[in-house]
Amino acid sequence: MLFESDTLTVVEDYAHHPAEIEALLAMVREDWPDRELCVIFQPHRYSRTLQYRESFANVLAKADRLLLKEVYAASEKPLEGGRCKDIMEAFTKPVNVTLCAEYEDMLEQIDGMVDRDRVILFVGAGDIDRWAARYSSRLQREMTHRNWWGRLQGRLQQGTVCRENESLAEKTTLRVGGNARYYIEPRDSEDLSRILITAKEAGIDTFILGRGSNIIVPDDGFNGIVIRLSHDNWRRVTQLVNGRLWAGAGVRLKQLCAEARRLGMSGLEYLEGIPGSLGGSLRMNAGAMGGWMFDIVEEVELMTYEGKRLRMARDEFTIEYRRCCELGEAVALGAVIQPSKQLTPSEIGQKMLEFSYSRKESQPREPSAGCIFKNPEGDHAGRLIDVSGLKGRKRGGAMVSDVHANFIVNTGGAAAEDIIGLVREVRQEIRELHGVELEPEVLLLGKKWGQVLA
Ligand code: EPU
Repeated sequence: MLFESDTLTVVEDYAHHPAEIEALLAMVREDWPDRELCVIFQPHRYSRTLQYRESFANVLAKADRLLLKEVYAASEKPLEGGRCKDIMEAFTKPVNVTLCAEYEDMLEQIDGMVDRDRVILFVGAGDIDRWAARYSSRLQREMTHRNWWGRLQGRLQQGTVCRENESLAEKTTLRVGGNARYYIEPRDSEDLSRILITAKEAGIDTFILGRGSNIIVPDDGFNGIVIRLSHDNWRRVTQLVNGRLWAGAGVRLKQLCAEARRLGMSGLEYLEGIPGSLGGSLRMNAGAMGGWMFDIVEEVELMTYEGKRLRMARDEFTIEYRRCCELGEAVALGAVIQPSKQLTPSEIGQKMLEFSYSRKESQPREPSAGCIFKNPEGDHAGRLIDVSGLKGRKRGGAMVSDVHANFIVNTGGAAAEDIIGLVREVRQEIRELHGVELEPEVLLLGKKWGQVLA
């Protein structure tokens, strides 16, 4: 027996002769008389299948549902009359049977079965045991997820938001993609550490979503937990001594800029208009107009995925173009911001207006994820894409912006696959035309770009 729950039992057996299978089915029926019996059978050798196809058909017809995996050859050459289709032709009464070429076909069949208490029996002497092992470890994982989620919800405080199958598209600026299997907005760091620690123990993938301005959510969503620091507790901006500010990770850059202007703190103006949260901008080391996030950061408070809280000074971080390495492995909780100098609020307001104006002039207004590719050494992705005549190139609802060529916009109703397909297309053209390999700047939730661009 490979798996057992209240409603489902999975058994694997080496039986490969009709008589053995008949005995096995009778035993299972006796042990679970009220359950539906689903048999997944792989015949062993073409010669045996040819010899016994009628007997196989008679015995297997006793299952309520039958899935067949093609014959395990065991070094034989295929024989006329000795394949699965020949067993299927030998049925003397209607049988609910499907031939599954791949593991995924089998999964689709099982997932599509009506919700009933069931025994699933993997039978055969070939390599059907691999399907059985893969399927039962999937069930095991699923059960671990369920138990974790149930227990976790009982331990979180009031005010923490927990939801299942939460749609993510509207939580991103690009507005595409599927659901997060689990979604939590923790009210404080105590709950956050509880989530991180238990998710790690249960082997559940975790992602911290900021304002969603630099990410593509795939159409099939994310089979893990998405955490957003959007509770008010993460959105506080406090004035510190020596002209510095403390800001929580959930603070929007717009709010941070407004607060800095009010206090006459200059140095953050270029952030105005970037649709990000402080946490996301730290992780991505967001930048614009010649400045980047870590220019104005003095210290960051963070939590490791083991739930440990730390404070790290700017010099302790490894900062790269559009990346803060340490924050790939931890969650930023907030930061001490050190503005560069004091100016009057109206002087700061004027600078912000100028940045905001040049951004509006040079960037599209449709939903996007900002610049899609990193700038290659010594050049600009936008320029390369533009001179290649790709502005306006469309794929489904996705389009290379005709305002700034390094933006892919959602013209309405785009699927994530349209955006990803266009990234692939643009990259290929730039490789062919200029010999330059453009690397995406935006993140792809739960996947590596290498997996989808190959
Ligand atoms: N260009 C074109 N055609 C275009 C777009 C740009 O020829 O369609 C040329 C421009 O004329 C200019 C050069 O490319 O000579 C650079 O353009 P731009 O000044 O817009 O800067 P960028 O390198 O494309 C970077 C950041 C932006 C940031 C701007 C402004 C990257 C990948 N992009 O863009 O950041 O807003 O500078 O500071 O580093 C983002 O990170 O999401 C983002 C938008």
